Amino acid sequence: MIIKPEISGVVARSAHPLGCEKAILQQIDYVKKAVPIKQGPKRVLIIGASSGFGLAARIALTFGGANADTIGVSFERGPSEKGVGSAGFYNNLYFKQQAEAAGRIAVNIQADAFSPQTKEDVIEAIETYFEGEVDLIIYSVASGVRPNYQTGEVWRSAIKPIGESVKGASISLEHDKWLDGELSPASDEEIEGTLKVMGGDDWEAWVDALINSESIAQGCKTVAFSYMGPELTHPIYLDGTLGRAKIDLHQTSHSLHLKLANFDGGAYATVCKALVTKASVFIPGLTPYLMALYQVMKQKGTHEGCIEQMQRLFTTKLYGVDKVPVDCERLVRIDDLELDVATQNEVAELVKAMNQNNFQQIGDYVGLKREFMQLNGFEFDDVDYQTDIDLQKLVATLSDQD
Ligand code: NAI
Repeated sequence: MIIKPEISGVVARSAHPLGCEKAILQQIDYVKKAVPIKQGPKRVLIIGASSGFGLAARIALTFGGANADTIGVSFERGPSEKGVGSAGFYNNLYFKQQAEAAGRIAVNIQADAFSPQTKEDVIEAIETYFEGEVDLIIYSVASGVRPNYQTGEVWRSAIKPIGESVKGASISLEHDKWLDGELSPASDEEIEGTLKVMGGDDWEAWVDALINSESIAQGCKTVAFSYMGPELTHPIYLDGTLGRAKIDLHQTSHSLHLKLANFDGGAYATVCKALVTKASVFIPGLTPYLMALYQVMKQKGTHEGCIEQMQRLFTTKLYGVDKVPVDCERLVRIDDLELDVATQNEVAELVKAMNQNNFQQIGDYVGLKREFMQLNGFEFDDVDYQTDIDLQKLVATLSDQD
């Protein structure tokens, strides 16, 4: 079949395997040429490993100097009568192919990270492939829902302000259209739901499960990702439901830090830069800011993608340093270039001037849309999109290498 892009709103309904392979290869190429990670971890568990920051972390740790073996947990779908499957599904297969060709262990577990059964399966995989212990646990799940396995109910996250309504535009990537909108404040239930889905609760459950199964190696670290952003994004992010969940995540990092101190290890919430990922294009009001930020940071030569952020995290903050550098709230910051004062002054001007008529001219809409398409394997210059692909055969061939 010939695979074409299908987008509804901000959701990709198709993915191109050959473009996903290309994206993996480009990221591998970047980290191989970058400053290498020194004294890095050898056995890494990544929860949320198939796209965005989690995938970039996996690539950086495997190919960027640490030569790590990895177990990656993700929630993705393969080809079926319903569609071609998700980009993350192909990312997993191609990552594994490349890692194994380089002599590394790469185990993919596609299952719900929130489930106790998945935690048990991962502990078993750690026994089998890592001789029972991990050196680093990365928690990079972005989800809209979390089943409550005790009651059978489902918690849902809601991306909303708290206290008062907020005006903010989103962009339909399907129609290249600016959509003005207003978000009403979250109810208590929505605040609580977002906290359960995107806060620190499940991160803590993972680390507790690994401590209880004696799977934590001496010096083991754990990291989860957060966002703070400049003041102009605070009404929708930091002061809203997502920010409440991130503050919970920061607090969780402190209790996990105490628990891992018993192993001479540590837990860190890491504040990353705003980037286009499957998850972030969902946040209403954030896209105009992202377009302005991309425009300014690319012009200044300070723009980074997930892979640059992760390689920098491991080389300058987490490994090869005497002490992990943290701010006054004990957060690791790799959002420094985004929050640079001159950058933010220019971004604020652009956001103020941006509207439905000019967003494609004054913001980097072209760059943002291209990045979104590339997350799903489309719009790479040197991929032949007319290739007739037999998905069943492709998946069987890639899976045979298991
Ligand atoms: P993403 O959507 O690219 O990746 C999310 C990952 O979670 C995927 O591997 C997906 O398969 C996995 N996942 C989702 N539900 C799952 C489930 N039930 N079980 C197992 N795996 C599941 O997201 P992104 O943007 O990389 O986000 C990762 C973290 O980084 C989030 O905590 C996010 O808040 C944070 N972050 C993102 C920023 C951004 O601008 N994209 C900025 C700063 C932090």
